[in-house]
Amino acid sequence: MDQFLNDLPKAELHLHLEGSLEPELMFALAERNGIALPYSAVDQLRQAYNFANLQEFLDLYYQGAAVLLTEQDFYDLTWAYVERCKAQNILHIEPFFDPQTHTDRGIPFATVISGISRALQQAETEYGISSGLIMCFLRHLSEDAAFETLQQAEPYLDQIIGIGLDSSEKGHPPAKFERVFAKVRNMGLLTVAHAGEEGPAQNVIDALDILKVDRIDHGVRAIDDPQLIKRLAEEKVALTVCPLSNTRLKVFDDMSQHNILQMLEQGVKVTVNSDDPAYFGGYLTENFIALEKGLGMTQEQAVELARNSFEYSFAKKERKEELFALLDRHCVAR
Ligand code: HPA
Ligand code: ZN
Repeated sequence: MDQFLNDLPKAELHLHLEGSLEPELMFALAERNGIALPYSAVDQLRQAYNFANLQEFLDLYYQGAAVLLTEQDFYDLTWAYVERCKAQNILHIEPFFDPQTHTDRGIPFATVISGISRALQQAETEYGISSGLIMCFLRHLSEDAAFETLQQAEPYLDQIIGIGLDSSEKGHPPAKFERVFAKVRNMGLLTVAHAGEEGPAQNVIDALDILKVDRIDHGVRAIDDPQLIKRLAEEKVALTVCPLSNTRLKVFDDMSQHNILQMLEQGVKVTVNSDDPAYFGGYLTENFIALEKGLGMTQEQAVELARNSFEYSFAKKERKEELFALLDRHCVAR
């Protein structure tokens, strides 16, 4: 089964590039850039990855990202993730990046996006991995700061497929970003938002009704509102669920408590994703394996989850057809 899950053709729709920064690369970049880390070794850093909640993780995640300075650094970060995708048969990716984490440290927006885009283009030409880059606004910062970031992104909009909203959910509800999301939609960009991770089901409703997003990131707290579950299923609103993230950040006590398969059985269009794999103990295959071990996910359910990842991706129709065909071939061949 583990080999089946690794080789299963799949897409990843919820992955923060900064969250794929492995401790080894963090140390290498710190040395290359002459930055002192408050840890003496990789093992010590990994031991610090013990989080009671989202905020404890975010504090280390922003600290870790401070080793990223040059275009080459952003390329190396992204390329390391692409290599993981190649190894796990991930054929389409829609990674997130957080420009404000970098521009607020004086790194030019151009440096960040150039390095990321160069690696994503190489993923396409060298490995045939298609992608769409999603730029996230940090919700603990102001809406004005989001508008400013959008302005900085304007020369690069051909390299961005959509806009997302991440960081601390508590105290920063969707409504805070109503105006900037309206502008983004008018510009023809797709939209997603983290909602219902640590925050209530109402945040999922508000992300749909106020921000009018095309997909919900996490969304697991929707389970508290049966009417909302019904709506998500009927309107085919996809949720990008991140099982290992949810257990590491204590959204669920352990994997046996996770509700992803329950939502799948209720007709919600859920997908599996790794969120911040360097911090949460695994990439996409490891998330699928965790569902098999912790929830007894069947092969049929795994295939349905993989199919959802293609269906609810932002890939063009022709690319989706290719991806479905590859999935069908895998299932027949097994
Ligand atoms: N939630 C909110 N913000 C984030 C996350 C997450 O899981 N990962 C990286 N930024
Ligand atoms: Zn996330």
